[in-house]
Amino acid sequence: MIDFRSDTVTLPSEKMRQAMANAPVGDDVYGDDPTVNALEQWAAERHGFEAAVFTSSGTQANLLGILSHCERGDEYLCGQDAHNYKYEAGGAAVLGSVQPQPIENNPDGTLPLSKLEKAVKPDDNHFARTRLLSLENTIGGKVLPVDYLYQAREFADRHGLKMHLDGARVYNAAVALGVDIRDIVAPFDSMTICLSKGLGAPVGSLLLGSQEYIAKARRLRKMVGGGMRQAGILAAAGMMALTENVERLAEDHANAKHLAEMLNSLPGFDTSAYDVQTNIVFVDVDTSVDIVGLSAALKEKGILFSPGYQGMRLVTHLGVTRDDIDLLIGEIRRYVS
Ligand SMILES: Cc1ncc(COP(=O)(O)O)c(C=O)c1O
Repeated sequence: MIDFRSDTVTLPSEKMRQAMANAPVGDDVYGDDPTVNALEQWAAERHGFEAAVFTSSGTQANLLGILSHCERGDEYLCGQDAHNYKYEAGGAAVLGSVQPQPIENNPDGTLPLSKLEKAVKPDDNHFARTRLLSLENTIGGKVLPVDYLYQAREFADRHGLKMHLDGARVYNAAVALGVDIRDIVAPFDSMTICLSKGLGAPVGSLLLGSQEYIAKARRLRKMVGGGMRQAGILAAAGMMALTENVERLAEDHANAKHLAEMLNSLPGFDTSAYDVQTNIVFVDVDTSVDIVGLSAALKEKGILFSPGYQGMRLVTHLGVTRDDIDLLIGEIRRYVS
């Protein structure tokens, strides 16, 4: 299958499978898994944090991330479009009694600082206690400007807030900007990284922060059933994802630009409202196109995408080549004409 639905569909390479098969393992709940320990230690040092914890998913890493900063009755500021507000089943509110305070994202993905200022609650027993600002980078494929991250840090410091980064695709941001990862994660108190998206591992994410914060997250991870045993098999893939699959993200970004240009050349397809900055492409499709029929027809030919009209999303990743894109475009052209 050629799969444009998401970068979560990436499959482990043969080399990654070998690394997984050969990984030394132990019981990670006892702290005995050498491969998990090595990944956590390496990741903490590489990203400039004191400690890290390996989690089963990005959703779990965000949940632990928010709950390790906040107590019951606290709140976190986030974007209306934030994954950890909109797409994680309300976990922080449901499981932690931590209230989200969403702010509408600017078109570039940032949160307007003037609106954030107004959203911080005074110390008054009518209100939840505002504790945390949570940002996402990339968000909808868009890269947050580096200056903005430091302005947000100033804002957070002024209000005594912690700052969390949902960095599911933070390496896409670093590669797109051509900067070292540390340059864009330094303003944050905590961050997540998804290993199982464009970086190509089958499972796993990391949460990074201070020693004390990660100790709290580790307890919470156990509480939500996320303590894994011989998890080194997964951590070995995660390590390879971080050490071997970062630079190649540039290829996915170039492919995404090509895909957008080619889509735009098709009758009834318009990408002009969207800027391609990383590996995510959006396209508006005219209602005269039977997009559900097109998706069914292409599925028969081994090509998958999620049909939609406004802002239909297609994602490039290590399982999609330039030729695959040209094949998709050829098939759509044939269908629509
Ligand atoms: C920005 C962002 N954060 C977090 C997640 C959650 O990751 P997972 O699917 O591993 O739970 C996703 C998943 O798509 C995401 O796009």
